[in-house]
Amino acid sequence: MERDSRIFVAGHRGLAGSAICRRLAAAGYSNLILRDRWQLDLREARAVADFFAAEQPEYVFLAAAKVGGILANSSRPAEFIHDNLAIQTNTIEAARRHGVKKFLFLGSSCIYPKFAPQPIREDSLLSGPLEPTNEWYAVAKIAGIKMAQAYRAQYGFRAISLMPTNLYGPQDNFDLATSHVLPALIRKFHAAKMAGDPEVVIWGTGSPRREFLHVDDLADAALHLMLHYDDPEIINVGTGEDITIRELAELVASIVGFQGGLRFDPSKPDGTPRKLLDVTRLHSLGWRARIPLRQGIAETYQWFQSHALESVVK
Ligand SMILES: NC(=O)c1ccc[n+]([C@@H]2O[C@H](COP(=O)([O-])OP(=O)(O)OC[C@H]3O[C@@H](n4cnc5c(N)ncnc54)[C@H](OP(=O)(O)O)[C@@H]3O)[C@@H](O)[C@H]2O)c1
Repeated sequence: MERDSRIFVAGHRGLAGSAICRRLAAAGYSNLILRDRWQLDLREARAVADFFAAEQPEYVFLAAAKVGGILANSSRPAEFIHDNLAIQTNTIEAARRHGVKKFLFLGSSCIYPKFAPQPIREDSLLSGPLEPTNEWYAVAKIAGIKMAQAYRAQYGFRAISLMPTNLYGPQDNFDLATSHVLPALIRKFHAAKMAGDPEVVIWGTGSPRREFLHVDDLADAALHLMLHYDDPEIINVGTGEDITIRELAELVASIVGFQGGLRFDPSKPDGTPRKLLDVTRLHSLGWRARIPLRQGIAETYQWFQSHALESVVK
């Protein structure tokens, strides 16, 4: 990939896509091709084909997808399966037809089987039943991985698929109805600090263990793998370390400066006891996560205060 290569970052306004753009720009890649959703709806096959014909991108980072939590998945299953299948099918097919040199697809740690042995190795994919709450999304994403592998096998199309763990960072979603645990904790503790609340209630027992990767680390890994990885097998992208939800809550509270107490509500579901990726293959390729969790959360809290606060805190 040359510094002036034509690089299409799909989903450039999202959490992952915006970080990939920042990383590419910082490394001197100056020819990024970006389209807002209203300029190019990736669900529309004709529009995607016309875009590739006109712009002739040489490299593609596909970070556009329909993503969301349990509520969104369960209330709009048809959109989750349709939109993701359409976005990835249209983009992979147009990229192949128009001679894209390399294509990066983003899977997710949440599409591994619900009871995959921990830490989760890449060969766990499709080895057991999925988590039912997001099966629509997972089935679509698995189809994307298989499509990338099939296109490589039949057409020699150089597509790679990454399996990132839970991401956090600037541009995260802080809407409590749809957000993931880490941004939700930042927002809850901030609101409690401002209101002078004596305590914050947190769902579950606090004992499940989870892994968190700063999105700038993901972007760095994506660039590294785009340059140095060319294999049909999926590759996990994580830190290799996990933390209990209780430890995470205490960390966020101390960063936000919330002085009150934490109360766990064990009547609410905990989910899987542990979710950690095995990153042996990633480490063997010479890449490791660099951003410590405390530093990453502190930066994310700063971003929340300067960008997200007005729109999310009523
Ligand atoms: N977030 C995580 O913790 C996590 C973990 C593992 C893997 N991933 C993967 O990373 C990828 C990106 O996730 P994210 O968290 O960055 O999501 P995000 O913040 O919601 O960003 C998704 C992006 O996709 C765009 N998009 C959605 N539908 C589109 C359409 N029909 N046409 C064009 N663009 C469309 C969105 O555009 P608008 O801005 O216009 O809505 C947005 O820019 C996904 O494949 C996801 O599976 C995420």
